[in-house]
Order: sequence, then C-alpha cells, then structure tokens
Amino acid sequence: MNIVTTPESVLGIALDAMSRTPDERLRTVMSALTRHLHKFVREVSLSEEEFERALQFIVQIGQATNASKNEVVLAADLLGVSTLVALLNNQDPQGESPAALLGPFWRANAPHCDTGESIARSDTEGAALSVRGVVRDAQGRPLAGATVDAWQASPVGLYENQDPQQCDMNLRGRFQTDSEGRFHFRTVRPAGYPVPTDGPCGELLHAQLRHPNRPAHIHFMVSKPGHKVLVTQVFADDDQNLESDPVFGVTRRLIGRFQPGADGAEATLEHDFVLEAGEMKFPHAPIP
Ligand code: BEZ
Ligand code: FE
Repeated sequence: MNIVTTPESVLGIALDAMSRTPDERLRTVMSALTRHLHKFVREVSLSEEEFERALQFIVQIGQATNASKNEVVLAADLLGVSTLVALLNNQDPQGESPAALLGPFWRANAPHCDTGESIARSDTEGAALSVRGVVRDAQGRPLAGATVDAWQASPVGLYENQDPQQCDMNLRGRFQTDSEGRFHFRTVRPAGYPVPTDGPCGELLHAQLRHPNRPAHIHFMVSKPGHKVLVTQVFADDDQNLESDPVFGVTRRLIGRFQPGADGAEATLEHDFVLEAGEMKFPHAPIP
C-alpha cells in the first residue's frame, strides 16, 4: 500500500505519484528536484520554523518583484544558479563559456540605433566610451545584419528604470552589424553597482556577510536568425570586485580591454562575439 509509514517512506511514494507524468522532461526534472529536496531537508534536519521561513522567503521575493526589478531572478543569481545554467548551456570546446547570466534588468524593446550612435540619451555624466567589435559565426565568418543589444547601468550605478533622473531607455540600444560583421556605439563608462538590497535578497546577503557590489560591466544580447542568442556581459578589467561578484558572473573571457583615451579622448572597448548555429530563441524579459 502506498501509505506513508516513516519519514524515509515519503520520497518513494511521492516519486511513484509523479511517475505517470506524460511529459517525459517534466517527469525527469520534477523527480530529480524532489529527490534533491528531500535529501537537502534530511541533511540539514530542517526545523518547522526554518521551513516556514523558507516558504516566507519565496512569497516575499514574488511580492518584491515589480516593474523596476525582479527579485526572483535576483535570488537565482545570488545563489549562483543563473550563472551555472548560463555556463552549462554555452560551453565552448575548452569548457569556458562566453555567456553570462541575463540579470534582472534586460528590457526587450530597446530603441534601434544607427551605427556610432550614443546610448546615453539623458545628460549622463561620466567618461565617454566607444564600443566596437565584430560578430562572427563559429567558423570565424563575419555575420552581417546581426543585432547587438547593449544595456548598462549609469556611472552612478543605476539602471534607467531604477532612477527618475534618467529618461526612459537611457543606456540601452540595439545595433545592427554591417556587411563585415562590425558594430559600433558610444556610451559612458559604466560603474560597478550594488544589486538591489532593499528586499529579502538584501537581507540574505547581509546575513551571509556578502557585499552586493557587481564589478562594472556592459550587458550584451547578440542575435541573428539561424544562431543561438548569446546573452553575455563584458567586465571592466580594472574593477576591484572582479573576484567577488555577488552573482558569480565573471569568467576570464568576459573581462574586456577597456583602454583609457589619451589626452581627453574617449576610452575604448573592443570586444568580438561568436554565435553558435542554432535556433534564435529570446529569453522572457524579467521586467517590462
Ligand atoms: C545586473 O547585472 O544587471 C544584475 C545581475 C544580477 C543581479 C542584479 C543585477
Ligand atoms: Fe548589470
């Protein structure tokens, strides 16, 4: 009989109940999740108070999600899960990934811009930066007509949707590569910034004695039909927090070469991207 007798008997009965799930992938994922959750509960001997607190945390991250931030994505990021998923699904033959987590601040409809245009639409103070690169396929051929979507925080460390001083879509833009796969835009040098700490995730970071400061970076989403969408970030090579990113997003290949401009000239970043062949599928935007 499938009636629970001991704590040990619950797992087998739960797995049996799920074993008839017609969707094979759902069956595999949910039974593995159930096994690991049961193992975790047993390993830490989870108390009833702790269980209640954990459920409350999940409710709170949902409640703290709004049009300007996604606390659920943030929680996955701070646990290292978002980075793990990004790396596992985007390894090159050497095992190092050119991809990085999406983060909670991507918006799907950034303005389309002309080559060379600036994404600093507000009067954004900060050192001028010129960003250039080439998008290629896995065989090294330049990809014309690829879309390079870039977004970043301002030099004071806030995304436009967090900051009433910035206009809508400031520091966001989509560019097309030219016939030789090249893209180019202007911006201001991003600053490092703290992940949002005003919600339950901030409380968790505090309890773990972890600082919230991400190293300065620019996000990129590079796409072209017939290729997998590359979601990545390029980090400033001189940032003091490269080795302590709270969301574990930095890999060596994602550290960019930010060259200071001589005699007041704008600084430059040159960074190329490689797209793998595959289906062009965009993620859901964490915020509208
Ligand atoms: C970001 O880079 O936008 C970000 C990533 C993870 C958590 C918070 C912010
Ligand atoms: Fe960011």
